[in-house]
Amino acid sequence: MISLTRGNIVDFAGDAIVNAANNSLLGGGGVDGTIHRAAGPELLAECRTLGGCPTGQARLTQGYSLPARYVIHTAGPVWEGGNHGEEELLASCYRESLALAERQGLRSIAFPNISTGVYGFPKAAAARIAIRTVREFLELHPEMEVSFLCFDAENYAIYRNLLARRL
Ligand code: APR
Repeated sequence: MISLTRGNIVDFAGDAIVNAANNSLLGGGGVDGTIHRAAGPELLAECRTLGGCPTGQARLTQGYSLPARYVIHTAGPVWEGGNHGEEELLASCYRESLALAERQGLRSIAFPNISTGVYGFPKAAAARIAIRTVREFLELHPEMEVSFLCFDAENYAIYRNLLARRL
């Protein structure tokens, strides 16, 4: 099942929230910074033990002070014009995060709009990739519940329009 919510991903009280991290996994700004502030210093301490995360892959940690039980960290691609495999790398972020959640036996997971902030990925293209990738995964794993957590109004409007069309 897919749902769409406008708000702050740190308020999500399901099994896991996905962090739009960077390759170091050592924190940053945007949603990464917000998640680390809400989870507390133990999150960074666990991240230090992971040895980073290649772009398009995902890593699991506890959620600590967050309402969500786990954080799935994924490093999205930096937008470089669209000819550097960015689309496939972004799809991989969603696919690998879902696969990791499924392997861990998690059911409810919330995604921010990965790469569409600092990393500059065009929001409409990113939304189409996210929705297509999630729908493909849910065909094989219908028991999972995926929430798109849109923080900004632009992303929310894009997702609302795309989700209304069964494309
Ligand atoms: N909850 C949900 N979404 C949020 C929140 C929040 N609290 N704060 C920001 N966002 C949204 C932004 O509106 C944007 O659409 O997350 C999306 C991703 O933006 P960024 O956080 O800038 O992430 P990204 O573009 O993937 O860049 C990652 O930024 O913070 C650093 O360490 C991070 O280097 C990494 C880079």
